[in-house]
Amino acid sequence: MPIISFANPKGGAGKTTSALLLANVLASKGAGVTIVDADPEKWISGWANLSDNIKKIEIRSDVTEDSIVDIIEDAARKTQFVIVDLEGTASLMVANAIGMSDLVLIPTQGASMDARGAAKTIKLIKNQARLARREIPHSVVFTRTSAAVASRSLKNVRSQLEDASIPVLKTSIVERAAYRDLLDFGGLLENLPSKDVSNLEKAIKNASEFTRDILELLEISSKKGRAA
Ligand SMILES: Nc1ncnc2c1ncn2[C@@H]1O[C@H](COP(=O)(O)OP(=O)(O)O)[C@@H](O)[C@H]1O
Ligand SMILES: [Mg+2]
Repeated sequence: MPIISFANPKGGAGKTTSALLLANVLASKGAGVTIVDADPEKWISGWANLSDNIKKIEIRSDVTEDSIVDIIEDAARKTQFVIVDLEGTASLMVANAIGMSDLVLIPTQGASMDARGAAKTIKLIKNQARLARREIPHSVVFTRTSAAVASRSLKNVRSQLEDASIPVLKTSIVERAAYRDLLDFGGLLENLPSKDVSNLEKAIKNASEFTRDILELLEISSKKGRAA
């Protein structure tokens, strides 16, 4: 069931990479996952075509503005998790996916401190929540952060966002060669050749922690939903 969308109008923010990491970890744990590839650039579909060994990850590439609602609904009926990789614009397709989501993640490049895309996405989420007359849980996730230093500027941005009541995911996604290799070579993180990919273990650990945070958020919001 849960529908998790990745949105930020800024290209290169890390939407596709984060969506793919989440799908990887869930599939490695044995969960059924559909990725709805709602980006006309079709990076995820390209990744899927590189390898036969992507376990239980199903890809929907046939997405249009007219079909996205049906496709997400259909996928949510059939698989345990639906992950939606959105395009880098604020289109009707993006608005529809956000409106249907149980959780919207907003990948934001930590180091660049460019939070404008994130702010736009949060505005869109709030508008969709008003239209739907429900909360739409969401969280910023810092991406491409440095493995070597927990920079002071990143800590500052985190605390500024938290002061503005904007939730930020505990785990940031570190800049790792393994994550680039994943899109280039295809298959799952766990199947990358560890002798050729530096710090693969650390990359897998980071992706697992990121996934654990997301599962925790979904748990919290479903409990709130049941209590309401
Ligand atoms: N954490 C990361 N580590 C290494 N490379 C990354 C990371 N996140 C993104 N990239 C690279 O940056 C580029 C843009 O990332 P992508 O996930 O496609 O962003 P978006 O989907 O928001 O446009 C891609 O080439 C991707 O491989
Ligand atoms: Mg993308």
